[in-house]
Order: sequence, then structure tokens, then C-alpha cells
Amino acid sequence: MISKSVLSVLALAASVYAQTSCNATSLTAFTQADLDKISSCEVFSGNIILSPPTTGVSFSINGVQEIGGSLTCTSNANLTSLSAASLETIDGTFDLTEVTQLGTLNFPRLATVGAINWVTLPSIQSLTFTTGVTNCQDILISDTSLSTLDGISLTQVARLEVNNCLDLDEISMPLQYVTDAVDISYNGATNVTFPSLVWANNLTFQDVSSISTPKLSTVNASYIIISNTMKSFVSKNLTSVGGLSVSKNDALTSLSFPNLETIGTAGLEISNNTKLVDISGFPKLTSVSGAIVLAGDFDNATFPDLDLVRGAVTIESTGDFDCSDFDDMKENREIRGNDYVCSAASTSTSASLTASATESGSSSEVTSDATTTSDSSSETSSTAASATSAAASSSSSAGAAIVGTSTSGVAFGGLIAAIFFGIF
Ligand SMILES: *[C@@H]1O[C@H](CO)[C@@H](O)[C@H](O)[C@H]1NC(C)=O
Ligand SMILES: *[C@@H]1O[C@H](CO)[C@@H](O)[C@H](O)[C@H]1NC(C)=O
Ligand SMILES: *[C@@H]1O[C@H](CO)[C@@H](O)[C@H](O)[C@H]1NC(C)=O
Ligand SMILES: *[C@@H]1O[C@H](CO)[C@@H](O)[C@H](O)[C@H]1NC(C)=O
Ligand SMILES: *[C@@H]1O[C@H](CO)[C@@H](O)[C@H](O)[C@H]1NC(C)=O
Ligand SMILES: *[C@@H]1O[C@H](CO)[C@@H](O)[C@H](O)[C@H]1NC(C)=O
Ligand SMILES: *[C@@H]1O[C@H](CO)[C@@H](O)[C@H](O)[C@H]1NC(C)=O
Ligand SMILES: *[C@@H]1O[C@H](CO)[C@@H](O)[C@H](O)[C@H]1NC(C)=O
Repeated sequence: MISKSVLSVLALAASVYAQTSCNATSLTAFTQADLDKISSCEVFSGNIILSPPTTGVSFSINGVQEIGGSLTCTSNANLTSLSAASLETIDGTFDLTEVTQLGTLNFPRLATVGAINWVTLPSIQSLTFTTGVTNCQDILISDTSLSTLDGISLTQVARLEVNNCLDLDEISMPLQYVTDAVDISYNGATNVTFPSLVWANNLTFQDVSSISTPKLSTVNASYIIISNTMKSFVSKNLTSVGGLSVSKNDALTSLSFPNLETIGTAGLEISNNTKLVDISGFPKLTSVSGAIVLAGDFDNATFPDLDLVRGAVTIESTGDFDCSDFDDMKENREIRGNDYVCSAASTSTSASLTASATESGSSSEVTSDATTTSDSSSETSSTAASATSAAASSSSSAGAAIVGTSTSGVAFGGLIAAIFFGIF
């Protein structure tokens, strides 16, 4: 075995380096003694890499209040417990990947972490984070046995991604803003509660049991609700969303967005929610800047205030659906997209631009429609162009609201449309 001498040389090198400076760029700890070499450092400026070579190891990082770099353990089946009694801050990443026997994380004072990356920690069931992490911008937790995320309590985050944690009963966090994305997917029967969430750039909920976001008023980019198990869903304060996709929620019988007024360039998709017979939860929806896709076994789809759809409309009902309201919208040029299809067990309608050429709408509308082609990327840009010209020539408040949405939506509208209508 060469490993013993190699390891002791490495251990010696690490300990000598650490002993001379709390400013070392990294410390690789094979034993508790290696970690104790930095116990006089309030701040250890480098990375700490944990690599115990024997089974059943408990490590404690003593004395250190701040780690300037990352704290890492990768592909190690020997670490069973990790404590850091004084540690308040990890400036880099708290990175634990494939640490299969790790059952205890005891970080009573940890509050600030640059990023959390915990992947494949099948033995960890709970966190002992007494103070709780209140400051962390980027979190990925995947394939762990955590039953809650108690101990991580953020009011603001850029990314929060939690997946494949099959024992996760609940995610409850005081989040107020999400600047990039929250994606909760493929966990157990998780109940998700964000009582203080006001806006999020992107939201994805997949395979969850319930979603509670009573204050949510804006989802700037995309909101995806797919394959969840709840019977009813309500987002009572949501007023605007960049794109909304609700699909394959097999138990869903009631869907309600009582205050939703505008949907942006990423459009609206409601598809294959097998028990959702009645799509009528959009009493205030006035405009959709992108496309609408409704598919599935529904009988009713009523949008009483909707008077502007800038993209295509595709309705495919296997139920007893009456297309006439949508036919009228197409006829009245409230549906601006070229492609319009409505098919149901009872009726089937398909119209295209030729039908609207004889209509006499305002001149700016005709012009922008005329430049629309069937290519989806140029349709996105001409949709944005028509939004601008509509705003220039129209004083209606609906027109002004759409410009706000589509101006910020132009850059990613095509991408999200591809996500919605390509993959799902
Ligand atoms: C560590 O770095 C700080 C500033 O970065 C410096 O003031 C201090 O002298 C350094 N200590 C050692 C032991 O190198
Ligand atoms: C874990 O400990 C065993 C001996 O107990 C050793 O063979 C193995 O290499 C150690 N390392 C890792 C990464 O698990
Ligand atoms: C989620 O909430 C529902 C309703 O409150 C409850 O019946 C269910 O047990 C909860 N799920 C878990 C995994 O705790
Ligand atoms: C989040 O939204 C941005 C646009 O703001 C988009 O580019 C990105 O792809 C979205 N990410 C996810 C995970 O949906
Ligand atoms: C609902 O959202 C609006 C902003 O759209 C906000 O002014 C209001 O306070 C929110 N209501 C609740 C109950 O959060
Ligand atoms: C999302 O919308 C809210 C409410 O309009 C706004 O305050 C926030 O700055 C927007 N965020 C992004 C990332 O565009
Ligand atoms: C809905 O289900 C049908 C039949 O399983 C499938 O052909 C279609 O692609 C699905 N649509 C969406 C948008 O998931
Ligand atoms: C569908 O709407 C009609 C009237 O618009 C109503 O009579 C009927 O009960 C509705 N059906 C369902 C299943 O909600």
C-alpha cells in the first residue's frame, strides 16, 4: 500500500502550510488533527477539503468563524458527521457531493453561505442549523433524505433548486423575492409554502402536493405547474405572469387565478389536466402577448375579459367544447396570431390570415399583421413590433400594460415559447 505514505506526506504538507498561515489557499483534511491546525484562525481564507481515508469519521471545524473559500467533500463514504460550532460564514460554496454516510450536519451558528450544493447525501435527514442560513443566493439540494429544509430560511434568493429528495414533506420559507428561479421538482409528496413571496422571475413546481403563495403578484418570466397531485390550485394575488403552463396535473379539478390580468410573450398553456373539465378560473385576464394552447378533456374554457391575444391559438378539446367564443375572437381580430385552430368533439374550426384580410381594423394593426410570417422567431419579433405600434396608436390601458411586459420579454420570449411548446 502506497496510500499510507502518500497520505501522510500530503497531511504533513497541508498541516505545515496551515500552521504557517490562516491565509493558505487550501487545507485538505484527512484527520481531525489537520482541522485542529486552523482552530486558532477566526478567518481561514482558503478552501477546506474534507477527505477522511477511514470509515466512520466525525469531523469538527473548531474555532473558525469564517471560511473565505469553499467547504467541500466529494465522493466520500467515510465522513459520517460534520460539525462547526463557531462557523458563521462560508464565502464560497458549501459543496457536499456523494457523501453517502453523512448523517449529521451540525452548524449551530451558520448564517451566510455563498452557495449550497448538496447532491447525493442519502443519509442526511435533518439539519442542525440553530441560527439558520438566512443569506445564500444559490442553492441546489438534490437526492438527499431531508424531510424539511428547516435551517435554511431565506427572504431572497437567486436560485433555489430542490429535486429528488423523496422524503421531503415540506418546504416552507419566508422568501419575498426570487431574482432568477425556484424549481421544486420530483421530490416526495412535498407541500410548498411561500407565505411572503411577492415576485419571482421563474417558478417551476413539479410533482408537489400543494403550493401556497398567497401574496405572489408577479412571475416575470415563466411559471410552470406540471404533474402535481393537488386537487385544487389557487393563486389569489397573481396579477401578471410572463408565461404560464399548467399541464398533466392529473388530480386537478379546480384552477383559479382570480386576479390575473396579463400574460406575457411566453403565453398560456393548459394541457392534459385529465380531471379539469372547466377552465374558467381567469375572470380578469385581459391580454396574452404570446400564444394560447388549451388541450385536454375539458368542456368549458371561458375568459370573460380576454380581448387581446397576440400569438396563435390552438385549442384541442376531447370534451364537449363549444368553439364559438374563440371563433368570434378570431373573427373580431382579438386573436392576432396567424394560426388559429379550435377542435373539439362537437366543433372544429381552423382559420388563417386570409379570413382577416377583409376586416377593417385600425391601420397599424393591419400593417403589423401583414408583416407576420409563420416562422416562430420572426413571429416573436413582429409580435413585439405590433405591441409597440399598438401602444403608439392606442390609448387603451391594456395596450400600455402589454408594452411593459413585452419590452422586457423580447429577449427570452422565443426561448420560453420553445420550452413551453416544444418540450411539453
Ligand atoms: C493574511 O492576509 C492579510 C490581508 O489579506 C494580511 O494582512 C496578513 O498579514 C496575512 N497573514 C499572513 C500570515 O500571511
Ligand atoms: C474510506 O475508507 C476506506 C477504508 O475504511 C478506504 O478504503 C477508502 O478509500 C476511503 N475513502 C473514501 C473516498 O471513501
Ligand atoms: C401536505 O398537506 C396535506 C394537506 O394539508 C396533508 O394531508 C399531507 O399529509 C401533507 N403532506 C406531507 C408529506 O406532509
Ligand atoms: C428564467 O428566466 C430567464 C429570463 O428571465 C430565462 O432566460 C431562463 O431560461 C429561465 N430559467 C428557467 C430555469 O426557467
Ligand atoms: C397583492 O398584490 C398587490 C400588487 O399587485 C399588492 O399591492 C397587494 O398588497 C397584494 N396583496 C396581498 C394580500 O399580498
Ligand atoms: C419582476 O416584477 C416585479 C414586480 O413588477 C419587479 O419589482 C421586479 O423587479 C421584476 N424582476 C425581474 C427580475 O424582472
Ligand atoms: C396531451 O396528451 C396527448 C395524449 O397523451 C398527447 O398526444 C399530447 O402531446 C399531450 N399534450 C401536451 C401538451 O402535453
Ligand atoms: C359549462 O358552462 C355552461 C355555461 O357556460 C354551464 O351551463 C355548464 O354547467 C358548464 N359546465 C361545466 C362542467 O362546468
